[in-house]
Amino acid sequence: MKITNEKLDIERILYTPKQIAGRVDEIARTLTERYGGERPVMACVLKGASFFYIDLCRSMRSHIEMDFISVSSYGSKSKSSGVVRLIKDLDTNIEGKHVILVEDIIDSGLTLKYLIELFSSRKPASITTVSFLKKTDCGKQAAQADIFGFEIPNEFVVGYGLDYAGYYRNLPYIGVLKPECYSE
Ligand code: IMP
Ligand code: MG
Repeated sequence: MKITNEKLDIERILYTPKQIAGRVDEIARTLTERYGGERPVMACVLKGASFFYIDLCRSMRSHIEMDFISVSSYGSKSKSSGVVRLIKDLDTNIEGKHVILVEDIIDSGLTLKYLIELFSSRKPASITTVSFLKKTDCGKQAAQADIFGFEIPNEFVVGYGLDYAGYYRNLPYIGVLKPECYSE
């Protein structure tokens, strides 16, 4: 069996598993306090937010419903085009419910904007957006997360659910991908 070492493609590590776990616990505490007895629907945006979502749900100390949505944005592999395609919808009817939308990363904010508009049309009681990462170029973003884990420079990152061309999601840390490993 040929073993490839994904770590060799990483320029530097931005957040270690320990730093990630600490921040996820803080966010879980914030959400638990905010939602107390409300029983919110936690909506995971597949596949990027998967690890963050599971860790977050596991750390929450209130009743929650878990559900998943899958979208894909057209465009080159390292830049979002803003044209979003719905691949798998939620199973839950969110009308009248509090929804916590869990994303992996906000770059242009176009994917988040699409999801907020889609969810809003279903008349939920409220929507809170949570993203594990956001890129620093805030001013230009089409939508912003209410709560985020870390703010990162405008570089392409992978790991902890984030991929390039389907790979690197299973790295336990957030790392900057070497530019020679991706094409625009
Ligand atoms: P946006 O629509 O430009 O905000 O991009 C959001 C989506 O693009 C995210 O949900 C990711 O799937 C992907 N994305 C943006 N930046 C990165 C990155 O640095 N690494 C991996 N995926 C990214
Ligand atoms: Mg994604």
